[in-house]
Amino acid sequence: MRQLGDLLKKVIELNRNEIPYPPPKRVIEAAKKGLINSNRYLKTSELNELRRMLSIYSKVEEKSIFVGSGAEVLIAQALHLFSWKGKVVIVDPTFFMITHVAEHLEKLGKKILKIKLSEPSFSLPVEPLIEESKDASLVVIDNPNNPSGRILLDRGLVDEICESISGILLIDEGYYEFSHFTVADMVKNHLNLAVTRTMSKAFGLAGLKIGYMIAGETVLDFFSHLDLPLRPSKPSVYAAIESLKDVRYVEKNVRLIEEERERVRKEANKIGVKVYPSCTNFLLIRTDVPYAARKLKEQGIKVFDPSNQLSHKFIRVSIGLKEENDAFLSALRKIIL
Ligand SMILES: Cc1ncc(COP(=O)(O)O)c(C=O)c1O
Repeated sequence: MRQLGDLLKKVIELNRNEIPYPPPKRVIEAAKKGLINSNRYLKTSELNELRRMLSIYSKVEEKSIFVGSGAEVLIAQALHLFSWKGKVVIVDPTFFMITHVAEHLEKLGKKILKIKLSEPSFSLPVEPLIEESKDASLVVIDNPNNPSGRILLDRGLVDEICESISGILLIDEGYYEFSHFTVADMVKNHLNLAVTRTMSKAFGLAGLKIGYMIAGETVLDFFSHLDLPLRPSKPSVYAAIESLKDVRYVEKNVRLIEEERERVRKEANKIGVKVYPSCTNFLLIRTDVPYAARKLKEQGIKVFDPSNQLSHKFIRVSIGLKEENDAFLSALRKIIL
C-alpha cells in the first residue's frame, strides 16, 4: 500500500511539453468573461474575430484559417478525412497521437506507411519519402519533429513534395514559436498544403485547447461541415483573442525557455548522456539506462517515455521552471551514476 507521505510528495511533470508559466492576468480575465456568458453558445462573429487575429499573427488570409479545439483534433480529422481513398504516409518517430490515430486506421483496413527517421541524428530520408508519397492521399510530418526536437523539412523540400504528390501534405508546426520556421505562407502556392498550429505551447494555453489549420480552399472545403462540431469553447476563444492582442508575453516565454533549454542541455551533457539539439521546448535524451523514464518517475520526475517508438533508454523532457529542471538534472544524475 502507498504511504501517505508518498501521495503528498510533489511529482514534477515534465512529460507533456507544456510551458511552466501561467497566462497573463488579462487573458485569465477574458476567459472568465467567456465563462460568465457560457449559458450561450459561442457566436460565429466571435469565432471570426479569433480567425481575424490569427490571420494577422500568421500573416495569411483570414479565409485560409480554420479554428478547432486543439491541433490534435484537426490532425486526427485530417487523418480520417483524407485516408479513405489511399495510403497515408507518416514519419517514425512522430508526435505519438499521429501514430496512435494512424495505427487505429490501419486496424480498420487503411494503408499506413511509416518513414523511419535516420539515426543517429533523426534526419528525414528524402528519397524514400518522395517515392512513397507519390501515390499517397495524405502525408503528415511534424516540423519540428516530436520527439527528436529537430526541423525535418526545408522550403525546397516542401515545394518538391507538394509538386510530386497527388494527395495532401499536412505539416504540423506545433512548436513554430520556438523553431521560428514556418511554411504557412506557402499555402497560397500549393493547393495541397496544410499547416496546423496550436496555442497550447508558447502561448501557454494548453488547458484551453485552441488549434488552427492554415490551408487553401481545396483542403478547407473538407472541413467546412466540421465548423460547428470542432468549435472551441467560449472561455477558450475569449482568452485566445485577448492573448493575440499583445504577443510580447509569448516572445518572453520563448526566450526564457530557450535559455533554460540550453542550460539543461549543457548540464545533461556533463552527466554523460546524449542530448539531441532542439528547436522546441523539450529535449530528447538517450541514456544507457534501461527503462529510464520509469526510473525517473520513481525519483518524482515525470518525463515522456517514447518507448512505443524508440528504445526504452530514451526520454523526452519538457523544459520547466529552473527549480524543476534542476530537480530533473539531479534525478538524472542519480539514475545514471
Ligand atoms: C507536434 C505537436 N502538435 C500538436 C500538439 C498538441 O496541440 P493541441 O494541444 O492544440 O491539441 C502537440 C502536443 O504535445 C505536439 O507535440
